Amino acid sequence: MTAPAEPRNLERDRTRRALARFDRGGEARDMAAAVQSALGYVPEAAIERVAVHAGVSPDAVRSIVESDAVLRLTPSARHRVTICTGRTCARRGGARLVKLARRTLGIPLFTSTDDEAIHIEPFRCFGECAMAPNVHIDGGTRGAMTESRFRLLLGVLVRR
Ligand code: FES
Repeated sequence: MTAPAEPRNLERDRTRRALARFDRGGEARDMAAAVQSALGYVPEAAIERVAVHAGVSPDAVRSIVESDAVLRLTPSARHRVTICTGRTCARRGGARLVKLARRTLGIPLFTSTDDEAIHIEPFRCFGECAMAPNVHIDGGTRGAMTESRFRLLLGVLVRR
């Protein structure tokens, strides 16, 4: 019997692809910019990967991002909606919530609406599986999310 496949970690996959073109070397700033193009900003997990790729410390990468006028440590949108795509959440409706967010807002994952109201992204397990499916809105957990409640929340966030 084979073990069930791990859910894909889209953020990690995109970061790896963004950094692949620097396999023969490059500047940490350029690597961070490539990650931002892929994810909309340079998240903490990506800072670690850029640091390893560039052969510098994570603090050095963080400092480069903080002092750069273009690079960001957080999404530029007013609200950040992170949908759990871990195994339990995905099975209990998380995968449908991802589709609903993309369809309702008309944007792909890892991007923000044109008016910078909402940034949407997936995350693989918040460690709060008992309340699945979970969504984080501006860092706060909204558990047992239903499609109708999520649609309402997105409508409220778009106006705020
Ligand atoms: S799978 Fe969603 S919180 Fe664990």
